[in-house]
This record gives sequence, structure tokens and C-alpha cells, in this order.
Amino acid sequence: MAFLQGLDSHIVIVGCGISGLGAAMRLVQHGFHKVRIVEATGRAGGRIKTTLWGGKFVEIGANWIHGPCQENPVFRLACDYHLLDEKSMTEENQSIDVEGHPPFVPNWFTSSGQKVSVGMTEPASMLYMKLLQESQEFSVEDQEVLPTSSVGEFIKCKAKQALDEEQVDKTTKDLKQAVINTLLKAECCVSGTHSMDDVCLRAFGMYKTLPGLDCTFPGGYEGLIRCMAQDLPKDIVSYNKPVKCIHWNCTDQNSSSSEKRLPVLVECEDGEKIPADHVILTVSLGFLKRNHKTLLNPEIPPHKVQSIQNLGFGTNNKIFLEFEEPFWDPDCEIIFFLWEDEPELTDVVSNLDIFWMKKLFGFTVMTPAERYGHVLCGWIAGHESEHMETLSQVELECTITRLIRRFTGNPTITPKRVLRSQWYHDPYTYGSYTYIAKGCSGQDIDNLVEPLPLKGSQSKPLQVLFGGEATNRSFFSTVHGALLAGWREAERLISHYAPSTFPEACSSKL
Ligand SMILES: Cc1cc2nc3c(=O)[nH]c(=O)nc-3n(C[C@H](O)[C@H](O)[C@H](O)COP(=O)(O)OP(=O)(O)OC[C@H]3O[C@@H](n4cnc5c(N)ncnc54)[C@H](O)[C@@H]3O)c2cc1C
Ligand SMILES: *[C@@H]1O[C@H](CO)[C@@H](O)[C@H](O)[C@H]1NC(C)=O
Ligand SMILES: *[C@@H]1O[C@H](CO)[C@@H](O)[C@H](O)[C@H]1NC(C)=O
Ligand SMILES: *[C@@H]1O[C@H](CO)[C@@H](O)[C@H](O)[C@H]1NC(C)=O
Ligand SMILES: *[C@@H]1O[C@H](CO)[C@@H](O)[C@H](O)[C@H]1NC(C)=O
Repeated sequence: MAFLQGLDSHIVIVGCGISGLGAAMRLVQHGFHKVRIVEATGRAGGRIKTTLWGGKFVEIGANWIHGPCQENPVFRLACDYHLLDEKSMTEENQSIDVEGHPPFVPNWFTSSGQKVSVGMTEPASMLYMKLLQESQEFSVEDQEVLPTSSVGEFIKCKAKQALDEEQVDKTTKDLKQAVINTLLKAECCVSGTHSMDDVCLRAFGMYKTLPGLDCTFPGGYEGLIRCMAQDLPKDIVSYNKPVKCIHWNCTDQNSSSSEKRLPVLVECEDGEKIPADHVILTVSLGFLKRNHKTLLNPEIPPHKVQSIQNLGFGTNNKIFLEFEEPFWDPDCEIIFFLWEDEPELTDVVSNLDIFWMKKLFGFTVMTPAERYGHVLCGWIAGHESEHMETLSQVELECTITRLIRRFTGNPTITPKRVLRSQWYHDPYTYGSYTYIAKGCSGQDIDNLVEPLPLKGSQSKPLQVLFGGEATNRSFFSTVHGALLAGWREAERLISHYAPSTFPEACSSKL
């Protein structure tokens, strides 16, 4: 009986990204019928965002299914909805383990306009990959003394030792240093951080990769969002409805006698107040960092706030460029730019206004060319990326054109079109994704996950639940992490109302 009453509970999900959609689907499948998603913007998907650009689909947000194998729920869903290429779904491609670094074929260009052979750059890139792997092998459980506290310091320190020990001429050494700098800048994009010096060494191994060769959605990632939304009851999502404040722990005195006495009241910016038994919050960590003080009333307890502040949430942006003709090799999958004038091992730029573009490590090539034409996707992370967002389109195009001309040594090459993402200035995201900052641990993620009211409270349980990409210890920063987190919070409510075995009759009927 308790369970059937539970199905009547009012559940508000804040945010219609994949985490919120996943939570809603799971609840609806289990018979909850008073589920509502409240979304600030006019669209579903959040950081999954596909745009048509010159007739082609490009991903402003998430691009790959990282680790597409049966264990990956995003891969399973995408297969069920028939959204992937045959090639992505082969057993062979599901079992390849690339450990988070797909083996892209590179081309290297220098700031003096030279193309350098892979043979020249390989020793340094192998050294870098070895150090990166070592940096993932520390663990939170081992109480060993760490050589440094951040991944960046660790890699730079070990790389410096290795370079100093080698008996090579200055030119060779400078080239190796430039290679490592470029790969560190690329790692800033992967981690979504300003500098690898900000990423915690002890927790770096906590992020787990899944087997499978990363794949993309030929018809755009947002196709997955559309399919999920279609499987939900109509009108379950309210768009253009930013939530201003979640009043929880409401006492009986507050609610008018005619209203059912619900413990939570979701106040929207437009003035609507939605009573609820449970709220699942899936806003980004960036949004929480900025708005935690006003988003909940009473405020989020101090130890949760501390963890929200401790965890890292940085910026990674894309700059798409289309060319008439490729300047890269036919088999090239990734282009790296090497700055020859950087005097030391570093992944940050000294003067943002003038030198922000030095943070752009290079480009991935959009393949297949039959689908995209000659399109590159540039990657830039950190404060340099946040600065890039503020430039006018004309200024961005000028700077990028100059950059390409310099590195290719071709004084007339001009991109046909330029398109960028601006995730830091998106007021409902405030950055790109979560990383484990220096001084943080998995405990901070656990603190963030902890529902309100905290254990031991006399008030009604599970009033505010926390989902979203930032709330999974192994898979933070990914689409599958976000989906799993949404499911986890839905399951928390399902098992709350069905504490013992779940009634089969209900699940099959509903
Ligand atoms: C540039 C970039 C590239 C990426 N590449 C990949 C990739 O290749 N593979 C991968 O796995 N992951 C990638 N990611 C990460 C992935 O996109 C995210 O981890 C995932 O989409 C997050 O889903 P979410 O539901 O947790 O959050 P979101 O998608 O951010 O959804 C949260 C929703 O809440 C809404 N919201 C915020 N505040 C309010 C409010 N006050 N009231 C109501 N609604 C609100 C937002 O508008 C948003 O729709 C990338 C991200 C970026 C930015
Ligand atoms: C694996 O995927 C790649 C990239 O899509 C493709 O080129 C290759 O043919 C696939 N392998 C198999 C066995 O299908
Ligand atoms: C919630 O309400 C109860 C009962 O009114 C009160 O004792 C408790 O302090 C409140 N909790 C918070 C976090 O305000
Ligand atoms: C309920 O009452 C408390 C204490 O009077 C107040 O702090 C809170 O804002 C009220 N909640 C709402 C939703 O009005
Ligand atoms: C993250 O997801 C994995 C895989 O489903 C799960 O085992 C783990 O418990 C999750 N962690 C958290 C904190 O939700």
C-alpha cells in the first residue's frame, strides 16, 4: 500500500539534460505519474547540443560516447534507438580498450610554419603518455606520500628530469618541451580544467574508462535526447522555466489548509510555485557553485557547500573551422600545434588578451570527410577559453586565420566559416564539466550526492536529491556518468517506497 501511495507522490526534476531525462524515464516506467521536469532554457539536452552548420550536424557540447560497450548505458540506449553506425557497434570495436586516449593519427605543425614528422615528436609524446599513465596509478586508499599534489606538477617535474638527463642539443630539447606543453594543454581539455596543476594527483585514477572505441552519433547526439523525450508522457517538461529557489523542510504552518501539505515548494523565476514531495536537482556543478546560497532555502548544509566549492568545474570549448581544401594529410585525425617560443614546461598562458590562442592545442579532424567536408574542431580550455568566449566573431575569425596561416606557412589560407561554443557564459551551465581539484577526494562527490534532509533528521526524508554529471565518482564529466546519476536518484525514490522486493505485478503492468 505504501508503495501505491508512493506512486502518487509529486516529483519535480530540475534540469532537462540527460540526467534529468534519465531520472524521469525511470520513475515513469515504475509507475510514478506525477513527475514533472522544469527546464530553464527553451530546449532539452543541456550540454548535449547539436547544431546544423552549413547543412552538417556539429556538436556544440558532448561529441563521443566514451567507452561504447555493453556496460555503458548511453551506448545501450543509442543501440536500442538505432542511432549508431554499424561500424561503431561491432564486437571488435566494443572490446578495444583505448584507456581514454583513442589512437588518433597526428599531424604536427610548429609556430614557424613547419610540419614536423611523427618520428621527431614521438619520443616526447611517448614520455608524456608514460607519465600520464603513472599519474593515474596513485590511489586514495594508499596513504603513500605523494611526490606532488597535482597531476601537472607531477608530469612537469618528471618530464624535466627526463629531459635534463638526456644528452641532446638545445633544438631537440626545445622541441620535446613544446610537445609536452601541447599535450598538457590537450589534457586540460580532456579534464576540463584551467591547468593540470589544478587537478588532484591522488584522485586522478578515480575516473574510470570503459572499453570500446569512442564513437559519435551520425545524426547528432541530440537525437538521443529526442528519442528519450518521446518515450515520456507529453507535456511532462516545462521549458523556459528557471527555478529560483527550492524551499524545503517546509513546516505545516506554511502551507494553506486547502493545499496538500507537501514538504517542498519549488519557486520559479516566473513566480509559479510548484509543491512537491521530492525534487531531483540536476543543474551543473558550475550553476551550484554560483547559486548554492539562494537556490535552496534553508541553505545547503555547510559540509555539502564545502564540497561544492572544493570540486573543480572548468571550461573546455570548441572552435569549428571549415576549409575549401585540407592542409592536413588524408589519414590525419588530430592536428597539434607546437609553440617554439615557450621558455619552460607550462600549460598556461601569461597574457590572456594577447596570447590566449596559445592555449589552443590543436584540432580534431571531423570524419568522414564525405559527411563533413574539410572541417576541423579546435579545442581550448581554461581561462584562455573563457576569454575567447568574450571576443567578437570578427576578432575571433581574424585571430584564428592568422594562427592557421602562421602554423601552415601558407599566407593566404582562410577558413570559410568559424563557429565556437561558449559554455562559460552559458548562465545555466557556467563551464563545461567536473574535475577533481587539488585537495579534493571522492568524499566530496559523496557529500554532494547526500540527499536532504541529512540522515537523522525528523523531517520527511528525501526532499532534495542530487543528480547530474558531477555526482558519480567513476564517471563524472561524461554523458554516461550523468545518465547513471539520474537513474541512481530515481532508484533511490523507487526503493524508498518499495523497501523490500519490488512488486513484479506493478512493474510489468506499468
Ligand atoms: C564542450 C563539451 C564537450 C563534451 N564532450 C563530451 C563527450 O564527448 N562525451 C561525454 O560523455 N561527455 C562530454 N561532455 C560532458 C557531457 O556533456 C555532460 O557531462 C552531460 O551532458 C551532463 O548532463 P547533465 O544532465 O548532468 O547536465 P546538463 O546537460 O548541464 O543539464 C542540466 C540542465 O539543467 C538546466 N538548468 C540549470 N539551472 C537551472 C535552473 N535554475 N532551473 C531549471 N533548469 C536549470 C540546464 O539548462 C540544463 O538543461 C562534454 C561537455 C562539454 C561542455
Ligand atoms: C571500428 O570503428 C572504426 C571507426 O568507425 C571503423 O573504421 C572500423 O572499420 C571499425 N571496425 C570494425 C571491425 O568494424
Ligand atoms: C527542519 O525542520 C525541523 C522541524 O521544524 C527543524 O528541527 C530542523 O532544524 C530543520 N532543518 C533545517 C536544515 O532547517
Ligand atoms: C516557511 O516558513 C519559514 C519560517 O517561517 C520560512 O523561512 C520559509 O521561507 C517559509 N517557506 C515558504 C515556502 O514560504
Ligand atoms: C557511479 O556509477 C557506477 C556504475 O554504475 C556505480 O557503480 C557507482 O556506484 C556510481 N557512483 C556513485 C557515487 O553514484
